[in-house]
Amino acid sequence: MTDCPLTGGSARAARQAECAADEGAGQFAMEDSIEVILQDCGRVLPTSRPHPVVSACTGALLTGLYGVWSLFVTPGFRKVPWRLKVPYLPSSKDQTLNTMKLLQGRTGRLADLGSGDGRLVFAASSAGFQCAGFEINSILVAYARSKALWTGVPPCQATFVKKDFWKTDLSSYNNVTAFLAPGVMGVLGEKLLKELPDDARVIACRFPFPNWPHQSSVGSGLDETFAYDIGTVRSHLRNVPNMTV
Ligand SMILES: C[S@@+](CC[C@H](N)C(=O)[O-])C[C@H]1O[C@@H](n2cnc3c(N)ncnc32)[C@H](O)[C@@H]1O
Repeated sequence: MTDCPLTGGSARAARQAECAADEGAGQFAMEDSIEVILQDCGRVLPTSRPHPVVSACTGALLTGLYGVWSLFVTPGFRKVPWRLKVPYLPSSKDQTLNTMKLLQGRTGRLADLGSGDGRLVFAASSAGFQCAGFEINSILVAYARSKALWTGVPPCQATFVKKDFWKTDLSSYNNVTAFLAPGVMGVLGEKLLKELPDDARVIACRFPFPNWPHQSSVGSGLDETFAYDIGTVRSHLRNVPNMTV
């Protein structure tokens, strides 16, 4: 709104009329410019619904992506009880490094439970372990096997077995690695306590075993990795009331 200075007498009345006219004109000009701005915005921002072809293509693309995702995440899972299902999520570089740090000084046979694309198995085999990766997803097993072929890793250093690790006897392994899910760690702990020898070491990535004292841990947050010595865990649990080991 324009500023109207105060004047006196008839000159004042004339001046007031002039001011009112000015203000009215200013108001119309402002409304006109708002209309122009809104029209301009209408040209830039879409005001109508997307074209049906675009919607159909977006729907098809999302369905395709979901199909590819579920192909990688779910095959082989049908027979695993719902509460024990663990989806595929590759471990980070730091997680792999942390796992290898916690295996320093160890040798022998190593089982990776749910080996995914084989990254932990390849890291451990290059450190001298004789590794087996147990994986339920056939696509990931095929990928890891072909990677072993391309990179010339012999089967005596790294094998990939398409098998449910819950149904696998792990008693011949003295090193076990597991990057799974928090909900399965308790059940896995019971299985490992039944099967592994006293001198076995278990490495848990990200999710620790409930009620197990860890020997050491490396990293923090999502990359934290825990080492457990089965002999120590057994003697600790023997001293816990109502615990059968
Ligand atoms: C979180 S991912 C970890 C993958 C890999 N170890 C890594 O660190 O990148 C867990 C893997 O376990 C596999 N898995 C889940 N349940 C399994 C089962 N019962 N037997 C074998 N593999 C299983 C999944 O298919 C998935 O590839």
